Amino acid sequence: MTLENDKQLRHRAEKVIPNGMYGHQSVLLLPPETPQFFSKAKGAYLWDPDGNRYIDYLCGYGPQLLGYGHEEVDEAYIRQLKQIDVATGPTPLMVDLAEAWVGLVDHADWAMFCKNGTDATTIALMTARAYRGRKKVLIAQGAYHGAANWCTPFPDGTVPDDRAHLISYTYNDVASLEAAVEEAGDDLAAIFASPFKHDVLTEQQLPDPAYAKRARALCDEKDALLIVDEIRAGLRIARDASWSLIGVKPDLTSWGKSLANGHPISALLGNDKAKEAAGKIYVTGSFWFAGAAMAASMVTLKLIRESNYLEHMIAMGDRLRAGLNEIAERRGIEISQTGPSQMPLIMFPDGAGGFNMEIGYEFTTGLMRRGVYFHPWHNMFISAAMTADDIDLTLTAADEAITSLSHIAV
Ligand SMILES: Cc1ncc(COP(=O)(O)O)c(C=O)c1O
Repeated sequence: MTLENDKQLRHRAEKVIPNGMYGHQSVLLLPPETPQFFSKAKGAYLWDPDGNRYIDYLCGYGPQLLGYGHEEVDEAYIRQLKQIDVATGPTPLMVDLAEAWVGLVDHADWAMFCKNGTDATTIALMTARAYRGRKKVLIAQGAYHGAANWCTPFPDGTVPDDRAHLISYTYNDVASLEAAVEEAGDDLAAIFASPFKHDVLTEQQLPDPAYAKRARALCDEKDALLIVDEIRAGLRIARDASWSLIGVKPDLTSWGKSLANGHPISALLGNDKAKEAAGKIYVTGSFWFAGAAMAASMVTLKLIRESNYLEHMIAMGDRLRAGLNEIAERRGIEISQTGPSQMPLIMFPDGAGGFNMEIGYEFTTGLMRRGVYFHPWHNMFISAAMTADDIDLTLTAADEAITSLSHIAV
């Protein structure tokens, strides 16, 4: 396996792109044999510029729900692109799509469309502040909600004022949530939550229904808005908002990534209570109303309603989880597998309450060499295009990669 073309591209990129690449798709913090660039994608597979094929467990960090290059979705996209895409006003598809979303997601009475997840979380924040003219917003410590000034995880280029009215709390911890609400006093605008705790570098936690219900009750008591950020997990947990599974209805949900199976569109959905506030804020973008991504989203939504994509993803995730557990047991090593099986995070405990990143990197490198793209510290994504054969190939590669880990006695 060679990565010569990728290496040359990286070399050229360093000269004309800051750091050669930026943001979460930069491979600077990944093992050295991780390709930075990709030239082709289809179904469950990615090819790098050197022609190496990978079963891709990142799915573009989420957007690829049904698999790369889905024929029906892409045909709708191309058809619409040729008819009308970015124009002086939206196409009729905007109304069709808003109706389709409101029809799918139970808490939603209206929809606004934008491009990236950060657009949707920022509109959610503004809507919540416009709702009662309040400032304080509660955010779970370590949660990622995008890369705008108020939420980017790295402070360079921002000022403390950008986050002045954010209060942090601990996910799933009712006492900490109550203390944060107390601190906000009568200036509480919103509580932000993720469908489950899917932060990097730490084990994932499913939502404790007591925490989700308390967040709902506190928002009701204080007349603030409950926002659930579905950008990463949305449509991978339920055919509705994720907390529908535990009986909690948010006021606002932000959606992105997978709405159009890889085509650029995101959305904020809200209930009637929040509609007037959403109508007051000024937000827009030159590309937000483009028809082609909306056409792709209409087909994606149809497939979500009519296919067994979700059950299939869960079955594939379960197969992977069970197979890795079997390998770990047979080889006498400990693997941490957390999160829903269709969005797994796989790490190696260090025996002292943390994780051994060196082993994680070596394992990921071993898989990469065998044509499997895993991530050592970010949750991964199963796509509906993956087959039992793909999972079994992955398990064979994992067994070999584990055997050759130099730091573990196997
Ligand atoms: C939970 C969550 N919120 C918001 C975002 C931001 O989305 P985008 O990168 O499309 O702006 C992400 C992206 O990874 C995310 O995972």
